[in-house]
Amino acid sequence: MRVAVTGGAGFIGSHTVVALLEAGHDVLILDNFDNAERDVPDRVAGIAGRGAELVEADVTDPATYRAPLAVFQPQALIHFAGLKAVGEAVENPLEYYRVNVAGSVTLFQEMAKIACNRLVFSSSATVYGDPDQLPIPDEHTTRPTNPYGQSKRMVEQVIEDWARAHPALSAIALRYFNPVGAHPSARIGEAPQGVPNNLMPYVAQVAQGRRDQLSVFGNDYDTPDGTGVRDYIHVMDLAEAHLAALALTGTGTGAEAINVGTGQGYSVLDMVRSFEAACGKEIPYVITDRRPGDIATSLADPTLAENRMGWRASRTLDDMCRDAWAWQRGRNT
Ligand code: WQD
Repeated sequence: MRVAVTGGAGFIGSHTVVALLEAGHDVLILDNFDNAERDVPDRVAGIAGRGAELVEADVTDPATYRAPLAVFQPQALIHFAGLKAVGEAVENPLEYYRVNVAGSVTLFQEMAKIACNRLVFSSSATVYGDPDQLPIPDEHTTRPTNPYGQSKRMVEQVIEDWARAHPALSAIALRYFNPVGAHPSARIGEAPQGVPNNLMPYVAQVAQGRRDQLSVFGNDYDTPDGTGVRDYIHVMDLAEAHLAALALTGTGTGAEAINVGTGQGYSVLDMVRSFEAACGKEIPYVITDRRPGDIATSLADPTLAENRMGWRASRTLDDMCRDAWAWQRGRNT
């Protein structure tokens, strides 16, 4: 198929583009490179043995992609492009709503103009807020507790209303849990700008010697060892989930949201231990106060993904740490 991918030079986008190209799809990457390194499309081509077409574009500005999209005539679109830092969203909500919500609406209007009726949207488990049920089922109440999660839920609602008004639309929102790791070739991976907000890239930088020690944000949670538990999922499992969702959009119409996680939770200290085994070094850490807004446990019920898409994660925490370390040790940033 011809698949347009917004944010296709980013962390999850680039790994998904590799999987799309290897599966024989033709890909057009749309990216403004705000949060992506410029040589990522070339590295993706090096891994897949063939390249994607590329347009430097910003979803909020249709003039940057209307013509290339009309020429490419995508049969489906995967929408990753967006802002994704929770803390930043709290400080600057208007920018998050401008890019994530208004940008998505603008993009969807452009899709409608060229009758592109198959959409996979990058949503997030943050839409659930602090869950009252674990593992979290796909039909769990959504009650985001920050503007980032709110923006993702709002786009899901935009898609639901669009599907009601446009019966030919087939749209899947994938609610990611905690994406981590890197492609086993170590040629693409997570490249956070500045000090990493997320656990895995921070631990990787401690292992590399770029950070002195990890701050463990609280060990007084109601979890087995007191530190936060999350459902970490290998970015290659996540990439494969997008191909499964793409296939699902070809079998029916309507909009639905599906959890993408492993169903297995690991604590911060579990992650530290697994990473120490992967890198063969000690990861020094100190216990500090909780990070405001953090929840004790987040864990996916992955049943619907298996039933609806025939997809299940297969890579282990050790795989995630091994691949993240191979990627990080080769970088000088
Ligand atoms: C994981 C655990 C922290 C850093 C966020 C977003 C979510 C998604 C993934 C975009 C928690 C602890 C972390 C550190 C620590 N992003 N931690 N020291 O908060 O579960 O999810 O990233 O879609 O939307 O909310 O991920 O990696 O930040 O934290 O102790 O330096 O590690 O307290 O328990 P989180 P995280």
